[in-house]
Parts: sequence; C-alpha cells; structure tokens
Amino acid sequence: MADPLAAHHTATGAPAERREGRQKVTGTARYAAEHPLPGRAHAWPVQAAVARGRVRAVDTSDALSMPGVLAVLTHENAPRLGEQDDATLAVLQDDRVPHRGWFVALVVAETLEQARDAAAEVHVDYAAEDHDVLLTADHPAAYVPEEANGGNPATRERGTPDADFAAAPVRIDAVYRVPPLHNHPMEPHTSTAHWDGDRLTVHTSSQGTTAVRRTLAALFGLDEERITVTAEHVGGGFGSKGTPRPDVVLATMAARRAGRPVTVSLPRRQLATVVGHRAPTVQRLRLGADRDGRLTSLIHEVDTHTSRLKEFVEQAAVPSRVMYGSPHSRTLHRVTPLDVPSPSWMRAPGEAPGMYALESAMDELADALGTDPVELRIVNDTAHEPDSGKPFSSRHLAECLREGARRFDWAGRAVRARASTGNLLVGSGVASATYPVMVSPSTASAHALPDGSFAVRINATDIGTGARTVLAQVAADALGTPLDRVRIEVGNSDLPTAPLAGGSSGTASWGWAVHEACTRLTERLAAHSGPLPADGLDARADTTGTADADSPYARHSFGAHFAEVAVDTVTGEVRVRRLLSVFAAGRILNERTARSQFIGGMTMGLGMALTESSTVDASFGDFAERDLASYHVPVHADVPAIEAHWIDEHDPHLNPMGSKGIGEIGIVGTAAAIGNAVHHATGVRFRELPLTPDRIL
Ligand code: MOS
Repeated sequence: MADPLAAHHTATGAPAERREGRQKVTGTARYAAEHPLPGRAHAWPVQAAVARGRVRAVDTSDALSMPGVLAVLTHENAPRLGEQDDATLAVLQDDRVPHRGWFVALVVAETLEQARDAAAEVHVDYAAEDHDVLLTADHPAAYVPEEANGGNPATRERGTPDADFAAAPVRIDAVYRVPPLHNHPMEPHTSTAHWDGDRLTVHTSSQGTTAVRRTLAALFGLDEERITVTAEHVGGGFGSKGTPRPDVVLATMAARRAGRPVTVSLPRRQLATVVGHRAPTVQRLRLGADRDGRLTSLIHEVDTHTSRLKEFVEQAAVPSRVMYGSPHSRTLHRVTPLDVPSPSWMRAPGEAPGMYALESAMDELADALGTDPVELRIVNDTAHEPDSGKPFSSRHLAECLREGARRFDWAGRAVRARASTGNLLVGSGVASATYPVMVSPSTASAHALPDGSFAVRINATDIGTGARTVLAQVAADALGTPLDRVRIEVGNSDLPTAPLAGGSSGTASWGWAVHEACTRLTERLAAHSGPLPADGLDARADTTGTADADSPYARHSFGAHFAEVAVDTVTGEVRVRRLLSVFAAGRILNERTARSQFIGGMTMGLGMALTESSTVDASFGDFAERDLASYHVPVHADVPAIEAHWIDEHDPHLNPMGSKGIGEIGIVGTAAAIGNAVHHATGVRFRELPLTPDRIL
C-alpha cells in the first residue's frame, strides 16, 4: 500500500499557494509605512537643486513657522553619524553636494502633507560648481578599476585575442548601448523608526534587515542587540533595497530628534537619484570565428559611469567569461566617475546589459555566417567554463535552446516572417541566458511543539517572491510532515541571522539552513521517546554555504528566450507578440512561485528592450524621468503571450535542495531576443536600447 504521507514528503516542487496571498489581497499585509505607532510623525526630504557644489546656507525659518512642523534637520544641526563604508548613507553630515538630488534637509511634521508643504519652504543657498555628467568615449577621467561589482576582476585575458580577431575569417565588431535604468519597485523606500530610550526599532522596506541592523549600529553607535529591524512584507526591490538606503538613516535621525516615531517614505519623484540605478554601458564586442561558426576570439569591453561618492562598476563583460568556448578572449571594464547619482544593483547587474550586447553580437555573427542562430550557440557550447577552466556542475544550455525551438516552432519562423502584412513586419529572435549560482552563510532554527506542529525561524525576507511558502516546503520535506503543520517566521532581525534576498541566492542560502535545522530536529525527535516536553524540542543550524572559489565546479543557471515581434513601419512601434523561455536552473522548488519570478524577469527584460530608459540631463545633472508616467515599465497591454518553461535538471553539486536561483535569469538575454527579432523583421540592426518608435523610424 502506498504511504499516505508520501505526497507530503515531496512538498518541494509542488505549486503551493503563497502563504501571505490572502493578507496581500485583503490589504492586511503590513508594509513599512503601515505601523501607526502612537505619536507617529512624518518626514519629507529636501533635495539639492545643483549637481555639484556646496550648501552656503539653509533658511528654515519659514518652514519652522508652518502648521504641524516639529523640526527641520540640515547638515548644521542633524545628529552626527558614525563611520561605515557606504558614502551614500552619510546624509546631512556636511555642506558638500556630490550630485543633484542629494539630501540637504529633512522636514519633520505631524502629518505627511504638512511635512511636504514645509519642505517646499526650506530655502537653500548654493555655491554651485561646474558639473560633468555625460559618459563619453575616451573620457579623460576613465580608468580600469581593480574590480567590478561582485568582486569580479575588471580585466581577464586569455591567449592573443587581438591577433586572433584580426586573423579570423569571419568578424563582428559592433558597439551596443544600454541607457541608465531604474529599479522602481512598486513600494517606495520607506522606514518607520522608533526609539525607546537606547533601544531602536525600525520597520523598513529592505531585501535584508541583517545588513540594515549592522549599518544602523555603526551609524548610531549602538550594540546590534539594541536594534530590531523588521521587513514583514516588501513591495519589490529589484536590487535597490539590497543595501540600506537613506530613508532608514533619515527616519532614525528624525525619530531621535523629534522624540517620537517617524516615518520616511521617499516620494516616487525622489527615487531616481537616491536609491541607485543601473549604470549606462557602452559595450564594444568583437567576435572572430572560423567558417564553421566556432569562436576563435571574443573581446568584450565595457565603458560605464559611477558617482563621486563611490565606485560601482556594472560588470557587463562578466557573462562573456562564461557563455561560449573561445580560445582567445579579453573582457574589460572601464569606469568614469561623474557628478551623477550613485549607481547600484539592479536585477542581474552585469548579466542583463552584458548579455544584451553578447547575444546581439552572436545574432550578427549568425547572420554573417548564414547560420541558424540556435545552431551557432550550440556549436559554441562548452563543457568547461572558458575563463576558469572549471567543469560546469551542470549546463543544459543546448537543451534549453532545443526545447525552446520546439515549443516556439522556431522552424516555422521564415513562414511567419513572410506572412507580414500591410504595415506590419513580423520576425523572430533567440538569445541565451545565464546567471551565476551564489550562496551565503545562514542560520535557522526549527522547533517541534507537543501538538505536532513545527515552527521554523529565520531572518529571510519575502520581497514578493513567496519566500515563506518555499521555505515551508523545504522544512516540511526535511521534517517529513504535511505542509500545513509548518509555521514560518521571517522578516525580523531578532530571528536567526540570514543573508539578503539578492543575487538569486536567497532560497539556496536560507533553504540550506532550514533543511539542516529541520534534519537535526528530525534526528532529535527520532531519539526522543514519550511525549514531548511542554516547550517542545528545538534544533539550530549554521550553514557556511560554499563559496564559488571553494568549489571545483563552475555553477550557473542557463536559459533560452524566443521572441516574436511585429514592427509597424508607419508608427515605428514594436509589439512583442510572443515571448517563450526555457530555463535550466536546478530543481524548481515551487512551480507556481517560480513561474511568477521567471515571467516577472522576462517582463522586466521586455521593458528593457522596448520602453524603459532614463536620461541624464546634461544641464541639470540628474535624470529627466522621475515618475512612472515618464519611466515606462511594461503594463499588461505590453505583455503578450508569455510562457516560462524549465527542464528537469539534477545537479548534485549545489545544496541539499538541488536548486540554483531563479530571481534574475528571466531578465538576462530577453532584450537581445527581442532586438534580434526586430532585426529579423526589418533587416535593420539597432544597437541601442530601448527600441522606441523614434529609433525604429
Ligand atoms: Mo538583486 S540586483 O541581486 O537584488
């Protein structure tokens, strides 16, 4: 007879519904602004109106005389902050203006409206200096840094790439441009801070409160034990909430000054300058190949910008170290510090812009060879990571390409293109995807209660992905118990320490610790006889993960995107008709929430291809687009038939769940697939995103 519990023992993989779904749709899930503590005040920041210079004087008298105003903080009277390593958090500490939009004052008032009105009456006198905000080729300040984001070496070279490029019978040499992009999560960056003597509690919208607590301890000179940071529910982050942001510092300062709880919820129009952006990239790709399409030389050189405050280098050439076998290669990053707002992480930093360039260049190479672009990628598949020489723990790129081609009916693409009618030209394109497998140390605890239920505690953060749900599935499997007997507590820094929801590493890192804690608890329970004590039994785990440098394997997810577009030759409008992707990302732990993350990433890639763009305004020095009316994220009408599939991948070199990561790979390569489809439709190669009508015409 079948084990009646067998179904429960395979909780992972099942399409379990989000545990917080009902709370979210009924409006009872609490976000960072929704902690109406007694006496809670509100604050509204004032942003610098010059791109570079000094604050000469701040006249706060008008603001202070307005109704409800409790305080106006400036660099002259704000609390002094301790040292930490993120210069973007050292707000209101001196008179320097490093970029337009930098915070120069903060108004605290009884209501949000009073704070906003008074902020408009704070008069700031600047000593402005000339600014330089435009990324240009051969900028005199450009340099090659030691490292790009993620600790990646800025430059890698193998063999003799220049000589072998020059000698190759087939060559592509092209420059691709990706504009600055903004994360713009639905919920703006928000913090509610509350002091109780020397104890600080902060409710914040963050991808990981462990780092927020550590930073607040350094800034405010407190022991971490005196600080609790919660992030119960988070309305997206896409990297912009991966590190503490100025809202949490301002709220904490203001609460100390006002002696009351204070909420700072950054207005949408301020976000473009103070919570990071994807830096623009100018990417030159040189591909040399033999007549069979085999790459002999791959050169990927990236120019990007950073701010005067910190060096952040978008690592766009890094995926070219992973994707295709080529005996000769150079990958290089140059960065130019400008008077611009500080760039930072945005979903798949490096891979998203880098794979747009590489996968567009591969399409150009297929064209030059007269080869099918799917086959060209398969010809250049490799069992060893070209840059490190390590074998891949698993690599099913070719399977993704073949399975995608079958599902998409790639073979019928020429027929569909010929069926273009009237003003509409129809075309299809393909591109590969990849994202590294990352994992960080984590802790977790598991508790067995006498009523047969379990409590699992870990300071994971659910940024909308369904982290609670999938961790409950991992726990249920390790405990051999039905899913509904497992309670999960996340989103509070008092819980066992855990890393952030970022780098597509959350589930792997947290799940590993949850699995370990639950496995230990199961062993304790097996050794226990008789009823459980009233306070139950518990177990803890402290996993170290496995850093990439320690692994004999190169570990990455792979995927393939297929897009069909219709281009209107009269209006210049590109519409994506169909977007179909196949991923190989290890074991998929929840079909429902995984699909949601995949299509979310693909939709963001569609935005990158067609509508999303920020413009550095040369005269003012910051971004022209400062709301969702001008920064165009895709809406339902823009998202066509969209399908995410995956292949069953078993990789024993990852973690106990066998999972890779799925949060970011969906955005990687999507824009190239769409751009390649536009070329197929029109015969014209566009090399600058987004593909808006003004460019197409
Ligand atoms: Mo993601 S950009 O690592 O939060």
